[in-house]
Amino acid sequence: MRTARTPAEARDIVRERKRSGKSIGFVPTMGALHEGHQSLVRMARENTDFVVSSIFVNPKQFGPREDLAGYPRDEADDSGILERLGCDLLFIPEGREMYTPNDRTRLTVRDLSGTLCGASRPGHFDGVVLVVAKLLNIVQPDVAFFGQKDAQQAVIVQRMVADLDFPVRIRLGPTVREQDGLAMSSRNRYLGGDERSRAPALYRALEAARGAIEGGERAPSVVSSLMKGIMEEAGFEVDYAEAVDGAALGMIDRLEGTVLLAAAGRMGRARLIDNIALVISGNDVRETLLEFPEWSRYAI
Ligand code: PAJ
Repeated sequence: MRTARTPAEARDIVRERKRSGKSIGFVPTMGALHEGHQSLVRMARENTDFVVSSIFVNPKQFGPREDLAGYPRDEADDSGILERLGCDLLFIPEGREMYTPNDRTRLTVRDLSGTLCGASRPGHFDGVVLVVAKLLNIVQPDVAFFGQKDAQQAVIVQRMVADLDFPVRIRLGPTVREQDGLAMSSRNRYLGGDERSRAPALYRALEAARGAIEGGERAPSVVSSLMKGIMEEAGFEVDYAEAVDGAALGMIDRLEGTVLLAAAGRMGRARLIDNIALVISGNDVRETLLEFPEWSRYAI
């Protein structure tokens, strides 16, 4: 595995591989790599010839009172993990390689960025799309891989890629969970012992919502209250627990079509998020990934 620390180095290495006809797969991350990240690198390894992963704790997507300074950083471990997974290139830039004081450009994916996590994290998704746009321009992959775990992020990135004609295909990997259902997250390490045992209630709430929908419930408000109740009982300070349209991420009157069940809450120091996406058609309820290749003209 090679390591590039500047955009120019990364681009040169990728350009050379492209010239010899290799397809490029890309997995952007903020490091502290767990099984969720690793599953995406494996997916890239299986689907593309040359696998690039990036590690960059992007300051622009953290709010002033968020955990930027304390965000876990384990470069040596991460590099070993990526090497073992068969990653070909690690791009790990310093902040000054990604942003300069002269930068003036900002990106906003309107409407999709203001709901769910966007409501309590103003500017977060603007920071995400800015860095993802930059990373896609630096690496120029054929396929970029994102996790369903961050469903809103995945939808927003697909919208940006379609709107700005990025020549890249976005693929999603399913959420990887601990044995007890807790979605893997770098932020799980903020959970104290007792909190760790209560945290799986977040996924239990989503599963209960799915169960109710499978039982015929079609009112978003009923499903939302059910999820909130389960989270509160476990000691979560609920940020949101909603059933929204899976593509528009907005309120719906009735649960049908592609629906995103999404919840977020605080447990001690940790803010945790999780979701399940469903396709509901008559009595048929199936889990899905929020992949929208039809949005983009590069959806081959
Ligand atoms: P990070 O939180 O490090 O996540 C990197 C990728 O791993 C994202 O696509 C995320 O959805 C995915 N992921 C995280 N936990 C997962 C899990 N349990 N199962 C499956 N996939 C999981 O998301 C970011 O970084 C940043 O916002 C980034 C896109 C890198 C831009 O800075």
